[in-house]
Amino acid sequence: MAGVSNTPSSPLWPRLQRILPYFSPSWGFALLAVLASIAAALTEPLIPALFKPLLDKGFEPDGFPLWMIPFALVLLFLFRGSAHFVGQYALTRIANDGVERLRKQLFTRLTRADLALFSRQSASSLSNAIVYEVQSGALLLVGAFTEVLRDGFTLIALLGYLFWLNWQLTLLVLTVVPALAWIMKKLSSRLYRLTREGQLATDDLAYVVEENVLAHRMVRLHAAQDAQVDRFAALGQRLRRLALKSTVASAAMTPLTQLISALGLSLVVVLALVQSRQGANGATVGSFVAFITAMLMLISPIRKLSDVFNPITRGLAALERGLDLMGNTPEERGGAHAPDRAEGRIAWQAVTLRYKPEGAPALDEVNLAVRPGEVVAFVGSSGAGKTTLVQTLPRFVLPTAGQVLLDGVALPDWSLATLRRQIAMVSQDVVMLNDTVGANVALGLPLERERVQACLEAANLWAHIAQLPQGMDSLIGHNASQLSGGQRQRLAIARALYKDAPILILDEATSALDNESERLVQEALRVLMRGRTTLIVAHRLSTIEHADRVVVMECGRIVEQGAPTELLAAGGAYARLHQRGEFNAPPASASA
Ligand SMILES: Nc1ncnc2c1ncn2[C@@H]1O[C@H](COP(=O)(O)OP(=O)(O)O)[C@@H](O)[C@H]1O
Ligand SMILES: [Mg+2]
Repeated sequence: MAGVSNTPSSPLWPRLQRILPYFSPSWGFALLAVLASIAAALTEPLIPALFKPLLDKGFEPDGFPLWMIPFALVLLFLFRGSAHFVGQYALTRIANDGVERLRKQLFTRLTRADLALFSRQSASSLSNAIVYEVQSGALLLVGAFTEVLRDGFTLIALLGYLFWLNWQLTLLVLTVVPALAWIMKKLSSRLYRLTREGQLATDDLAYVVEENVLAHRMVRLHAAQDAQVDRFAALGQRLRRLALKSTVASAAMTPLTQLISALGLSLVVVLALVQSRQGANGATVGSFVAFITAMLMLISPIRKLSDVFNPITRGLAALERGLDLMGNTPEERGGAHAPDRAEGRIAWQAVTLRYKPEGAPALDEVNLAVRPGEVVAFVGSSGAGKTTLVQTLPRFVLPTAGQVLLDGVALPDWSLATLRRQIAMVSQDVVMLNDTVGANVALGLPLERERVQACLEAANLWAHIAQLPQGMDSLIGHNASQLSGGQRQRLAIARALYKDAPILILDEATSALDNESERLVQEALRVLMRGRTTLIVAHRLSTIEHADRVVVMECGRIVEQGAPTELLAAGGAYARLHQRGEFNAPPASASA
């Protein structure tokens, strides 16, 4: 791996700096973690240090009292355990506080992001980045830092103790240990690579079998059996070679490392004995054992520290996916025009809209003006651009050319919140949140119970809601799974009534209903439409009867418009659609 350098100029640092702000408010806990790690590390050399008096004095009849042994050991581990506990708590606290901050920002960003985000990213990848990757990234990072702190300080403490015991010997160790670590790392990375290749080769082999099972007819029909057997055999051979190689690597690894360790160890021991025979440094059996023990204790932190960059880079990468999502997504932008209530005068001026730069436009130079309070029905075959046209009004889609005006003011000049407050929408796919009936009706507004009830009554749904055990406080399940299609639609109508907006958009609001629900929904819609500028995308005659004007669309263009009776009499596109029964097709043919 190229990134295994820990110089300050390593590219890790700017990446860490980017996520630091989310974790830095917990600096108090960071300090606590560092202190606890230092305390825990200081106890490490105490274990070999205890050997010294134990061996030098413990065997003499007039040595220290024996009760001191359990006392010292228990005290030592009590202190060490407490320090580990505090350190672990502090680091987990930093991680979770940071995750909470980061998640909240990401989610807030999600709710305000430009709508283009949702066509680029799938729901699952967004929820994945915000919920799971943030979590696992932070835990990986904090785990790695726990290790850096703990093992780093342990290493320092042990080395300090070793130098204090016998600096010449320690210098020797310092040359031998890194060499050992380097050899072991080389060997284990080769082993890892071979294992990985072996896994991939096994996958390939399994894939060939799978393919041949799935395509067994085709293989026989084309007499491709021999070729398939050859293919399988070649992969099998490769797998066998890799398996042997990796066995050689792993079987050689243990004896090899042991051999090298023995070499290093014997070097140190010989030098230590030479020194003590010369009577230097007041060498005793106790100090010799203490030295060897402390030296062996170096191995584990060194090995862990040499692997610490892997989780750091993986953790960073996971967190960065979330940050990039946020960084690369501009917020929706609106203007400043914010009157109390719009009149409801709408105009599309030469509006062209393309979803993709190449290909036919979804809207092609559409010009249309709607008076306040007018009811306009849009008809036309599927894909004609009806939904796209009405979606330009709340700025869910943006025109490629031309402009849309509300009350004579171009939509981008309206404050987004104000603009959207003017519009209530009921569409074919009703979207409900997993909350109470009341909260779904009042969505985004303060919940007034009498008004919620009045709206549910007007939407012909109160009779049903009232007999639920908890009335309007009942939870409705994920996307209102506890309601029927017709009930969901009427709940959406109640929501639109509650919003009491001057403009109403109905996009195939009755398409998936049976006759009984349809009648109830139609009644509810009639109440809803009263006194509002209404745009209806409809495929049933019953919805269109009350329209002041019908607009017929084909391929993104308006091909005909006028009063329904006039159009019928004129015998044009509308009359043909009408004849085909497009608007009164039996509900059974609609999707169930
Ligand atoms: N999000 C989208 N991305 C790409 N193309 C789209 C998108 N939504 C609609 N379209 C295309 O735009 C055209 C008009 O679609 P739409 O407005 O939904 O028609 P209608 O509501 O009249 O059935 C269709 O050709 C459709 O495939
Ligand atoms: Mg549509």
